[in-house]
Amino acid sequence: MRRILVTGASRGIGFEFVRRYLARGERVFATLRKVDGDARWAELAGIHPGRLTLLALDVTQPDQFAAFAETLSDHCDALDLLINNAGILPSGERFGNVEAGDLESCFRTNAAAPFLLTQALTPMLARGEQPRVLNISSELGSIAHRKGFSTPSYCISKAALNMAMRLLSFELTQRGIGSVAMHPGWVKTDMGGPSAPLAVADSVRAMIALIDALKPEQYGSFMSVDGQQLPW
Ligand SMILES: NC(=O)c1ccc[n+]([C@@H]2O[C@H](COP(=O)([O-])OP(=O)(O)OC[C@H]3O[C@@H](n4cnc5c(N)ncnc54)[C@H](OP(=O)(O)O)[C@@H]3O)[C@@H](O)[C@H]2O)c1
Repeated sequence: MRRILVTGASRGIGFEFVRRYLARGERVFATLRKVDGDARWAELAGIHPGRLTLLALDVTQPDQFAAFAETLSDHCDALDLLINNAGILPSGERFGNVEAGDLESCFRTNAAAPFLLTQALTPMLARGEQPRVLNISSELGSIAHRKGFSTPSYCISKAALNMAMRLLSFELTQRGIGSVAMHPGWVKTDMGGPSAPLAVADSVRAMIALIDALKPEQYGSFMSVDGQQLPW
């Protein structure tokens, strides 16, 4: 049974990872900005007794990561998979009125948080079985692919995430931890919107297969949900 932690599990891709890994028999730590009384969690916990723990984690509060690691270690001595999934995308940004607040909050949530949380949880990952870190990035963070000015705060933060994860991969690999940045496709979620071509179930199923099959030569790379390498 793998011990798996998912950030931003309240909805969308994060929730689907929790649902699928529980269905597969894994031990799952679902982290939420705020643990609430949502009936979906009671239902999942009932179907999978003893395998789901909800933990509060606002990823923009890195001063709480050490305490969070302590809390997690009360539940398990090691972690086998960390999924840095929580993310934000401010809408309506136009050249001429991009706000510092949006740039800062995107950087804090989408780039600094995964970097700092991975750093805080590395000792637990290093004790894991075939440990992995999956960073949910975006093709919009590919500098090579950008052809126009759109969603700048998000694009800049995901490019920063890619660099953060590339750097981390050198330290993680030395500790036996495989890591990758992955584009989940354009997915029908609150963020992706109703026109997105990919169902959340299909995206998450494909990402789980890729992380299961991750090879050392893929560590530290930027992959798409179809298994192809993406240019930085
Ligand atoms: N959907 C797509 O087409 C697409 C494409 C490429 C990449 N991605 C990436 O995939 C990941 C998941 O996106 P999604 O489509 O599932 O988006 P979503 O439906 O908007 O869900 C975002 C999740 O992140 C959580 N979150 C945001 N800020 C947080 C914080 N400060 N602390 C803790 N949790 C926080 C949200 O929690 P709350 O409910 O508390 O807000 C929510 O659970 C993101 O990293 C996104 O950039 C998505």
